[in-house]
Amino acid sequence: MTPAHSRPRCDQTAAWAALQQHFDTEGRRFDLRAAFAADAQRFAAFSQSAPHVFADLSKNLIDATAQTLLFDLAQQCGLAQHRDAMFAGDKINHTEQRAVMHFLLRKPAAVNESSADAATKTLANELREVHTTLDAMLAYAEQVRADASITDVVNIGIGGSDLGPQMAVLALDGFADSGKRFHFVSNVDGHELAAVLKRVHVNSTLFLIASKTFTTIETMTNARSAKQWFQEQGGTHVAKHFAALTTNVAAAREFGIDTTFGFWDWVGGRYSMWSAIGLPVAMAIGAQGFRDFLAGAHAMDEHFRTAPLEGNLPVRLGLLDLWYRNFHGFTSRSIAPYHSALRRVPAYLQQLEMESNGKRVDGTGQTLPFGTSPVLWGEPGTNGQHAYFQMLHQGTDVVPVEFIAVTRARHSLAGHHSQLLANVLAQAQALMLGKNDAGGHRHFPGNRPSSFLLLDDLTPASLGALIALQEHRVFVSGALWGINSFDQWGVELGKVLAKDIEPRLHSGDAAGLDASTAGLLQRLRSA
Ligand code: F6P
Repeated sequence: MTPAHSRPRCDQTAAWAALQQHFDTEGRRFDLRAAFAADAQRFAAFSQSAPHVFADLSKNLIDATAQTLLFDLAQQCGLAQHRDAMFAGDKINHTEQRAVMHFLLRKPAAVNESSADAATKTLANELREVHTTLDAMLAYAEQVRADASITDVVNIGIGGSDLGPQMAVLALDGFADSGKRFHFVSNVDGHELAAVLKRVHVNSTLFLIASKTFTTIETMTNARSAKQWFQEQGGTHVAKHFAALTTNVAAAREFGIDTTFGFWDWVGGRYSMWSAIGLPVAMAIGAQGFRDFLAGAHAMDEHFRTAPLEGNLPVRLGLLDLWYRNFHGFTSRSIAPYHSALRRVPAYLQQLEMESNGKRVDGTGQTLPFGTSPVLWGEPGTNGQHAYFQMLHQGTDVVPVEFIAVTRARHSLAGHHSQLLANVLAQAQALMLGKNDAGGHRHFPGNRPSSFLLLDDLTPASLGALIALQEHRVFVSGALWGINSFDQWGVELGKVLAKDIEPRLHSGDAAGLDASTAGLLQRLRSA
């Protein structure tokens, strides 16, 4: 077992000091154009293949020395040991005393115990439970897919119980053959649920109540309102029209739902799309499609678990993230998926990275003297180009961009895909090359970094691999920063305060409130 605090933190290593020195002497003056001119092999040296994903990292502000020092840093921080501890099922989420085993959700059932690796043998019982639940969930998905009387599936959940399934259902629309419409209700703002309820019919709707804890206030409020609407509309068959996806099966039963699919406390909410929380995805693309999705993620797990650090894509990305955040001082990363079906990927990645690594203390609770999670943001290309790319090209801040492109299109509309691909290549090129113009306004400084992730095709397997890649790169930077990437205490305070404020909105009691909150409360009440 390697608790976070038993490994050296990145800033306590010799490699960190060497990186700082390298950055001060050369790194801060690094120029991409000069680097390409000096090294004909730069593209090959700074690209990396991984299952389903090819990554061109050559347009990043990094040279061979920085890369070598970053690998040294990973070694000196015990990254491989920490990774192995996760895969062995150790309780690396030490503030909640939990293992972190979302990788187990995509691991195939062990065919032959004698040929299984050590981790599979240790976790054999958990893996059996995973597959029993997966088989049951996929059988249910197929049953609903075959039931023509159900035309609409409404997923009620928030955070990890919404972003993952919503992102994946949209991304895999090309594989959705159930003929059903999928709706996602997450916000406690009743406008969202009301708008969906207007479009569905009581006898043809299935509500999936997705909540790891089954206590999240937004989800419970929406679930209660959906159930009330169902009963007011004359619905009686709750078992057919409601199912719950949760680790808290007892609470779901108490709520009146008997069809439940469980998962385990060792699956973090933002890592839960591979569990029962993925049921809408399975309903959209079918059991085999969901198994392919898991298989793609598993292939990336194996790459992360076994590839040497120097040829390990999640490791290379995570190290680059740290290099940018802690040495170049970049505070954000823009995600630019050049595929409209990937439009919710930036929102999904926001939770993955910022809820995991948006921490300011290390494993022992000590305040960190360096920055952690960057801000992630973005929109699909080419839309972003016509909105905020101006700032990426000519603004005062340097924002590393992560382009995601797909070689193959699955539509037959002439000319579109080559235009799309030309644009993604051109944007990466323009950021790097820039353009000299003495006039100032038309000058592009260039030397602006980007990574380029390329999928051959957008399929369940490649999406699974792409997302698992992102999960593991977040693991890497979090491990080096010495933080616990798997808790989320920062979301608790607001929840507690909202509980106190809500009755005050009814009563008007402002006693003990700060003057601003009290003033706003009175204003809202008098409207
Ligand atoms: O408030 C944050 C959070 O706990 C996320 O981590 C989680 O994904 C989300 O709320 C939803 O939680 P649950 O699935 O338990 O409803």
